Amino acid sequence: MKKIQISPSILSADFSQLGNEIKRLEDAGADMIHVDVMDGHFVPNLTIGPPVIKALRKYSELTFDVHLMISPVHKYIKDFADAGADIITIHPEATDNLAESIKHIKSFKKKVGISLNPNTEVNIIENELENVDLILVMSVHPGFGGQKFIPEVIKKIELLKKLKDDKNYKYDIEVDGGINFSNSKDVINAGANILVSGTTIFKENNGNIKKNIETLKEV
Ligand code: DX5
Ligand code: ZN
Repeated sequence: MKKIQISPSILSADFSQLGNEIKRLEDAGADMIHVDVMDGHFVPNLTIGPPVIKALRKYSELTFDVHLMISPVHKYIKDFADAGADIITIHPEATDNLAESIKHIKSFKKKVGISLNPNTEVNIIENELENVDLILVMSVHPGFGGQKFIPEVIKKIELLKKLKDDKNYKYDIEVDGGINFSNSKDVINAGANILVSGTTIFKENNGNIKKNIETLKEV
């Protein structure tokens, strides 16, 4: 069984202190930092872009797990690679040519992820599964933190795990949205090995981030 990793989403962090918040997450045992980029077009919310990621890069050596909820996405990939993203995750609906966008991310020596919205089925990316490092399963409709987990995505996680085992694919399975102490074990048992969390990590146990990260990892 792969080690369970936690990728806290800074969408729930104090945006006026993002550098210090990233240091706080690293000190509390975060395995990587989930950076939610939103353009107000692909999703109905706007957050940060490459200049902010560039500014945050010096605050931590942790992997920047950058989730691009932007479209069109292809022409911005270089900017995020240059800003210091380590994993660049895109939505298939945001590019005209998924295979080309995957190649483009790899050309910058970055890890590539594909994110599947709750209504997006695995079969539309079946041909790319062997080429990616990460599948980001959305367990909420993207755009905001603090939403309710959609339990129907458990089946998608199980399918991705079966495909990975049957065909010996290498991708990590990351789940993102509404993850809390009552569903994290189900998500891990279904096959996820990376959990994203914003609200639970920053708000539970009076904001004891270390305790919240450790609790989410428990199987
Ligand atoms: C939503 C983002 C998620 C979200 C997770 O569009 O992709 O990463 O910030 O936040 P919580 O854990 O609060 O659902
Ligand atoms: Zn995200």
